[in-house]
Amino acid sequence: MNQLSITGNKTLNGNVIISGSKNAALPILFMTILTKEKIKISNVPNLTDIQIALKLLIHLGAKIKQKNNLQIDTSTINIFNAPNYLINKIRASIWILGPLLARFGQAHISLPGGCKIGDRPIDLHLYGLTQLGAIINVKGKYIHAYIKGRFQGKYIFMEKISVGATITIMSAAILAQGLTIIDNAACEPEIIDVAKFLNSIGANITGAGNKKIYIQGVSKLTGGKHTIIPDRIETGTFLIAATISQGYIICHQTEPKHLKTVLMYLSKSGAKIRTGKDWIELDMRGKRPKSLNVQTAPYPGLPTDMQSQFTLLNIISQGIGIITENIFENRFIYAIELIKMGAKLKIKNNTIISYGTQNLIASNIFCSDLRGAATLILASCIAIGITIVNHTYHIERGYDSFLQKLNKLGADIKII
Ligand code: EPZ
Repeated sequence: MNQLSITGNKTLNGNVIISGSKNAALPILFMTILTKEKIKISNVPNLTDIQIALKLLIHLGAKIKQKNNLQIDTSTINIFNAPNYLINKIRASIWILGPLLARFGQAHISLPGGCKIGDRPIDLHLYGLTQLGAIINVKGKYIHAYIKGRFQGKYIFMEKISVGATITIMSAAILAQGLTIIDNAACEPEIIDVAKFLNSIGANITGAGNKKIYIQGVSKLTGGKHTIIPDRIETGTFLIAATISQGYIICHQTEPKHLKTVLMYLSKSGAKIRTGKDWIELDMRGKRPKSLNVQTAPYPGLPTDMQSQFTLLNIISQGIGIITENIFENRFIYAIELIKMGAKLKIKNNTIISYGTQNLIASNIFCSDLRGAATLILASCIAIGITIVNHTYHIERGYDSFLQKLNKLGADIKII
């Protein structure tokens, strides 16, 4: 899917079922390398990033059955090299490094790829692994890593909060000798889900979700089952869809606790919100939202993965709103496309100042990353006229059945 035709001026109303979290499923898939026993994982979203992760595991020698759930057997892994054509497609592929080293003592992988939203270095991942005893050489585009015997547990202070590096260090510390403490760890719900999965197969992790994570190394892991948490960014994106179109939505099979900050800002913007154990209802009662001043921050702050959606909200709101992006330095490319649609905004360093526009106008626009693509599709659903959205393959990386779900809410999206 590369090009869409979207007839706009729609109000999005109805029910949507939220899929499993991409950013929890990806690391958990790679963590299966740590055990020789079989793993079943359910609520895995159907996404191209997940398919690439599975291809990588199969390339290493794992056996995978895809039924209602995923059945993964990594006992047959016998390759420790991961080629560029698979690795450079997704950032998450860096997460095979820790598990391969922990189980086999060596890993040779190409540098990872992913959305073009900034430099995205991997120094913190490599720092953490080296602290635990790995010897790492980066030659050209390849990382060659070795460890003699087991990783050795250690206190590690993270100078910068990183979701990815916290997961990498966790993956290495699970089978290490002794205690590892990750200080200034990322606290995202996806980290808690990874820890929950690992503990369910015999790891000894405490404190996940807090600034300090304690990992007492164990000598081996077992098999088991795990259900992936709901995708909080998909949920937030659908809540914004209803907010900007002055609509009404109920998101089902989600986790309201993971969206506290997002919900707080949406109610500030005028949305009436109710939550239950696994659902969120949002009602704009036909009113235009009010603009917001928000900053992205590590969890529990506003997720950077919701930054573009909140910018769209500001663009069509009453009043002047300011969005500050504090995590990635190049995450505003989508905004240029919104200007083509009539958005009135100024970009200054890491902030977007928007001056509320009542209506966006259809145009011919281009997506350049996953969350930006979701935002441009939502913008097209409310713009006046028919928008042609190009390079929409980005959306399939991170949103399961996005177009079908939006069409069910009243959008008119056709694949060209
Ligand atoms: C994860 O990326 C997510 N990706 C991102 O989601 C998300 O935006 C991000 O966390 C922040 O929440 C996956 O889970 C696959 P980080 P990650 O390490 O782990 C810097 C999406 O759209 N940094 O927390 O790569 C980095 O440049 C995606 O679903 C270093 O300097 O993010 C950034 O400024 C996009 N050195 C900051 O830390 C490193 O070694 C936080 O990045 C690693 C990161």
